[in-house]
Amino acid sequence: MELLQIFPHLNAALNASSGVFLIFGFYFILKTQVHKHRMCMISASVISALFLISYVTHHVIRTSYFGLGTTKFTGEGIVRPIYFTILTSHTILATMVAPFVILTLVRALKGRFDAHKKIARLVYPVWLYVSATGVIVYLMLYQFYPTR
Ligand code: HEM
Repeated sequence: MELLQIFPHLNAALNASSGVFLIFGFYFILKTQVHKHRMCMISASVISALFLISYVTHHVIRTSYFGLGTTKFTGEGIVRPIYFTILTSHTILATMVAPFVILTLVRALKGRFDAHKKIARLVYPVWLYVSATGVIVYLMLYQFYPTR
């Protein structure tokens, strides 16, 4: 059970570090430092893939081995609708963005930079939103309003 409790913190750390690479990656392409942009975006993609594996592993162990449901949000009052609005938008966009991230990456790796730039301008802000709200959801659920 104790090992299981590490997962939310590990997942949040992966999510946050992928977000940091995203921000640096954008900064580098604005300065036309393509090599550094490439390194940051590949790092963000690999870390996001690790996050996905860890997230699914955690979910499967929780439900299949311990029969646990979702973690209850204990905040009351105005923070409840705020939390659930962030959580819903985060969940919907997170499930949608993954194939578009792959497409963006593939276009860049094939050297199709015009096509890459076109889709990247849409995918980037969504990915960054998913990453940032992932951290916010973690902080609200496990740090600010933990289950007593
Ligand atoms: C999924 C990962 C990636 C994302 C989300 C991403 C995001 C972006 C964004 C938002 C821009 C446009 C910046 C602007 O508005 O001017 C851009 C441009 C660019 N990216 Fe990426 N990028 C990714 C991966 C890569 C990779 C792996 C390379 C490999 C070299 C790369 C090379 C470039 C280049 C050369 C441009 C400039 C294109 C131009 O101005 O014609 N990107 N990228």
